Amino acid sequence: MTYGAGMDLTGKVALVTGAARGLGRAMAVALARAGCDLAVSDIAQSGDGATPYALSSRDDLAETVRAVEQLGRRAVGTPCDVTVAADVAKLMAFVEEQLGGLDVLIGNAGIVAARRWRRWTRRCGTASST
Ligand SMILES: NC(=O)c1ccc[n+]([C@@H]2O[C@H](COP(=O)([O-])OP(=O)(O)OC[C@H]3O[C@@H](n4cnc5c(N)ncnc54)[C@H](O)[C@@H]3O)[C@@H](O)[C@H]2O)c1
Repeated sequence: MTYGAGMDLTGKVALVTGAARGLGRAMAVALARAGCDLAVSDIAQSGDGATPYALSSRDDLAETVRAVEQLGRRAVGTPCDVTVAADVAKLMAFVEEQLGGLDVLIGNAGIVAARRWRRWTRRCGTASST
């Protein structure tokens, strides 16, 4: 199946966070196929050991930009840690400046941290019978 082929979003501008690989890159490519110009961002620093697995690099983010451009759409990429408010403000200004506005936002950035449910609910103060 070719995702994005059935939608017509010609002329729209989309922003995908966490777009350097995985689902984020796939959604950026699908939106480009549907006609969007793309802003893509990612933390783009392979990791300081604080996360349970390595995050993406600037090269990964550049590869997403290339994949969108190969579909004939505009693509701009910039690093952004979505947990840092100042980074997000800069990202929004960058999108406005480079692409003139925003129609579609995919907040995809994130990690999966496997934790034992009981310990997590205790730490959050949530009652749990498990
Ligand atoms: N793949 C799954 O089965 C699954 C299941 C449930 C939820 N999700 C969620 O979907 C999203 C994408 O999953 P994926 O499998 O493509 O993961 P992935 O790890 O391949 O991609 C996530 C991207 O987000 C980036 N990222 C992480 N923290 C960031 C931050 N603070 N700021 C900016 N970028 C950041 C990473 O560098 C990476 O490029 C994630 O949010 C994940 O938690 C995925």
